[in-house]
Parts: sequence; C-alpha cells; structure tokens
Amino acid sequence: TGTFTYDPGFTSTASCESGLTYIDGDQGILLHRGYPISQLAEKSSFMEVSYLLLNGELPTQDELDTFTRTITRHTMLHEQLATFYRGFRRDAHPMAIMCGVIGALSAFYHDSTDISDPQQRMIASHRLIAKMPTIAAMAYKYSAGQPFVYPRNDLSYTANFLRMTFSVPAEEYEIDPVVEQAMDRIFILHADHEQNASTSTVRLAGSSGANPFACIAAGIACLWGPAHGGANEAALNMLHEIGTPDRIPEYIARAKDKDDPFRLMGFGHRVYKNYDPRAKVMQKTAAEVLKKLGVTDPVFDVARELEHIALNDEYFIEKKLYPNVDFYSGVVLSAIGFPTSMFTALFALARTVGWVAQWNEMISDPAQKIGRPRQLYTGPTQRDYVPVAKR
Ligand code: CMC
Repeated sequence: TGTFTYDPGFTSTASCESGLTYIDGDQGILLHRGYPISQLAEKSSFMEVSYLLLNGELPTQDELDTFTRTITRHTMLHEQLATFYRGFRRDAHPMAIMCGVIGALSAFYHDSTDISDPQQRMIASHRLIAKMPTIAAMAYKYSAGQPFVYPRNDLSYTANFLRMTFSVPAEEYEIDPVVEQAMDRIFILHADHEQNASTSTVRLAGSSGANPFACIAAGIACLWGPAHGGANEAALNMLHEIGTPDRIPEYIARAKDKDDPFRLMGFGHRVYKNYDPRAKVMQKTAAEVLKKLGVTDPVFDVARELEHIALNDEYFIEKKLYPNVDFYSGVVLSAIGFPTSMFTALFALARTVGWVAQWNEMISDPAQKIGRPRQLYTGPTQRDYVPVAKR
C-alpha cells in the first residue's frame, strides 16, 4: 500500500542526513567536515583525517598523539587469524581474503559487537582502522609466499603498513619518505566519499543492528566490483592493454560504440560531472613518485595522452566524463611496487575510516531505522497452485 518513488540506482534519493562529507559534482568540490580535499591531501596526514572524520574536528597535537597511540595499540591481529589465512589458496584474490578475514573478526572481538554502547562502537572503529593495514599486508605476504611481518608500532601508520608489506626477514628495509607521503596521501584521497555504493551497503547492513565487522565485510564485498573500487585495478590493466599512445583512438572509439560494452576505466562518475578533485592530486602524486623513484613507466604517458584526447572528444564532453580517482592511482601504486590485485584492497584499507565514521553517525542518529526499500512488483498476479502431475 502507499505510493513509492521508483528510483533505480538511487540517483535522486537521499538515504540519510550526514555531516561528514560534502560533494558538489558540478563544480568538482569535495569537503570532509568542511575542509577541501586538496588542502587535506597536501597538508594533513591520514591519521589526522581519520580523527577528523570520526570526531568532527581537526585534533589538537595532544588529541592527535593520543589517537595515534590508540590506533597503534590495536594493530596486532589475534594469532589464530594466521591459521585462518592458511585456509585460503595462495592465488586467492586479496579482496576475497579481506572479505573473509574482516567478517571473521566478529568471532574474535566479541566485546566490540555490542553496538548499543558508544564506547564499544569507538573501540570497534579503532580496531578496524588499526587492523586493516595488518590484514591487507598479510594478504599480500600470503600470496607472495613470504612470512607475515608483525606491526612495528614505533613507525607511522603508513610506514608500518609499507614495512609489513615489503620487508623480508634478515634484510634492511628503508622507507623512502616520498613513497611514504604518497601512500599516506592516497589513503587520504580514499578515506570517505559520502553515500557511494559500499558506504550505503555498510549503512544498510548496520541498520539491522549487525556487528561492525560484518558490516565492513559487506562494504568490502561491494567495493570489489569494477564499477566501484575495482576500477583502479581495471584502469591499470586497460592502460597496459592499450600499451602505446598510437592505440588510444581505437579504445576511444570502442568506449563510444553503443554496441560495445567497453568503458574507459577510471573515467566517469555518478556524482562528478566535472574533474574529480581527487584525480588532480593523484596525477600530481604519480608524477612526483615516478620522478623520485626514477621510474619511466610508458603507462603514465598513455594515461596522460588518453586523458588529453578524451577531454577534447565530443562524446566525453557531452556526457561530462572526466578522470576519476582511480585513473592515476594504479600508476602510483605499481611504481611503489604493489601488484594490481592489491589495488582494491588498499582502497578498502583507506575507506574503512569513512565506513566506520558513517556507521557511527547512523547508529547515533535517533531517527535511524532499518533500511527497507520497497519495489514495483512486476511478477504474475495471484494464481492457484497446480499439482506437479497436472502441469
Ligand atoms: N566510458 C565510456 N562511456 C561511459 C563511461 C566510461 N567510463 N562512463 C559512463 N559512460 C556513458 C554511459 O555509456 C552512458 O551513456 P548513455 O547515456 O548513452 O547510455 C552515460 O555515460 C552515463 O553513464 P551511466 O552508466 O548511466 O552513469 P552512472 O552514473 O550509472 O555510472 C560509473 C557511473 C562510475 C559507474 C561509470 O561512469 C563507469 O562505469 N565508469 C567506469 C568505471 C569507473 O571508473 N569506476 C570508478 C568510479 S570512481 C571510484 C569509486 O567510486 O569507486
């Protein structure tokens, strides 16, 4: 009964009130708690942005130190979880491992599953932010056949993650400060993005009262798809497939062909009908990292040329298709040394803070209800059952 608005893809439905992130897609503006993403990416740190998203204000030095210490204290994983990893095949996709391991945390941290207590919700949030780098690094180590590396809590959040991923026993591992800063910036650029598909998934799962680990596992599953977080992996694969700038017109023609399902990965966005402000920072970061590491990657040239051609093409102009955050992130991540299969896992690591902040905001909202969309029924009208012998 009642009238429903049919809105496939929720293009014009606001599902909640939120004070976290503001996007003006026409102007290409993204603000977290009012602060422009370009300022946060240039001047802040991922720990500071995490505090801002969770608590609403930038921290004082004392607050930042306490927050960082709290996160640091939770970076270890229960040792039993190492056994859990060993149940996966070595060639398992890191996102498959992430979905499984994060879901399994609910079986290890029972105290954090009481969502009625704000303090427990905050502990669960800290645990998730703190353990994500350990979990992602272990997924990488497992696929590479290398021993797991335990967290070292005297390092920064990001340096610790890089060390857990790339260091091997009995060898010195030095973290290049340019790489550390680029990685931290990539985390900031992915930290939150209002009611995208995975965040909406986390909110919907959380609206039933499910525990936070189960909710974040649901978000990770949603993020995996190539139309969402999986686009960074797909974009780099596409750039490799194109290979040289002379082949770009062929791919542009395919993207424009109505009968060809091919899309330019890393291009277009549901909300941005202008340049994604994150892509601008990412392009600059890619140039810096390649220069510092002395990497000459033909894929970066293909990306820049592809962007140039697309931005001057009528089809892309008319449909307002611009590079999104995923277009250049793959170039940076592969220069740092990550295999493409890890790209979406890194997105999940960074987005965890957005997911938990949104989840906390939802649970604290007195107007919160279980999410329960309606439908337009298109099946048969009522009819009588016919026994199998008479069909
Ligand atoms: N290449 C070619 N044509 C495109 C593209 C593209 N990348 N994106 C959209 N279009 C066309 C599409 O064919 C449609 O044309 P028409 O109106 O003639 O049917 C029109 O533009 C509108 O597209 P849509 O699919 O209705 O738009 P949407 O808002 O539902 O989809 C999107 C947004 C991001 C899923 C889509 O642009 C896309 O598939 N992009 C490639 C994947 C990608 O880069 N995803 C990452 C998004 S940003 C990071 C994140 O959120 O995870």
